[in-house]
Amino acid sequence: MNLLGKYIKYKLKSKGKHQIHSPFVFDFITKCLKIKKNDSLKSQEKQLKSIYKKNHTSIEIADFGAGSKKLTNKRRISAIYKTATSKGIYANLLFQLVSYYNCKNSLELGTSLGIGTFNLAKGNESCDIQTIDACKNTQEIAKEKLNDFGIKNIKFINSEFDKAILSFEKEIKFDLIFIDGHHDGMALKRYLNLLDDFSHDETIFILDDIRWSEGMFAAWNEITKDKKYNLTLDLFRMGLIWKRQHQAKEHFVIKIKGILKGMI
Ligand SMILES: C[S@@+](CC[C@H](N)C(=O)[O-])C[C@H]1O[C@@H](n2cnc3c(N)ncnc32)[C@H](O)[C@@H]1O
Repeated sequence: MNLLGKYIKYKLKSKGKHQIHSPFVFDFITKCLKIKKNDSLKSQEKQLKSIYKKNHTSIEIADFGAGSKKLTNKRRISAIYKTATSKGIYANLLFQLVSYYNCKNSLELGTSLGIGTFNLAKGNESCDIQTIDACKNTQEIAKEKLNDFGIKNIKFINSEFDKAILSFEKEIKFDLIFIDGHHDGMALKRYLNLLDDFSHDETIFILDDIRWSEGMFAAWNEITKDKKYNLTLDLFRMGLIWKRQHQAKEHFVIKIKGILKGMI
């Protein structure tokens, strides 16, 4: 099914704040999603994006994931920006979540050019962010640029996801985990299992590109039925999941504005 078909299906199922009776989710919609970036931050983000948009230098990329539907292994930075970075409401969502839930310790699987990392780091400057990417060339660009912006709360890990996760200290528990690389249903479920030890009952898991492929969407549907996660929210491009074992199991398809702009 094409993107429009998927969107129409989603729209028919989606619910607004008045149709949702969970206080936690009502709060998420009416407070978390309402957080706005200030003008200085908006201008910094615009500047960062503009640097990437105008940079047509090609770099060699090592693709460890499910591959890009559009690119080859030598890619222009401008093309990576266009096809493989968080956009619009979804980049904002990272900022809003880390800010509203006052996350102190967050993990991103898939740095790429660091647009998501920028949003996580700026959402809460007292949050320690760890971001993993196996492609050194891409991650180095993110590292350099975010450093130029004076951002200090990020640790860049150049590694494959599995290896990095297996090397975490047992005690570490992330408040937020953003899985945005290797968009394959089986791999997604494997990462969630590996990350279980490094999460707590209120950890927010953000799963990107749940409609990327049939395999990803099948995995998402399985995850929403899994008893391990009592709260699951479908935001079209992204899915949010929480364990929240103290609440009854709930799944909502949330109506939000700006979806299509956040996809392209
Ligand atoms: C979609 S991009 C990440 C976008 C970024 N999170 C953002 O918000 O702009 C995915 C990244 O994941 C990395 N990646 C994919 N599979 C990986 C794996 N198995 N181990 C490590 N990195 C991987 C790729 O190199 C790529 O840079």
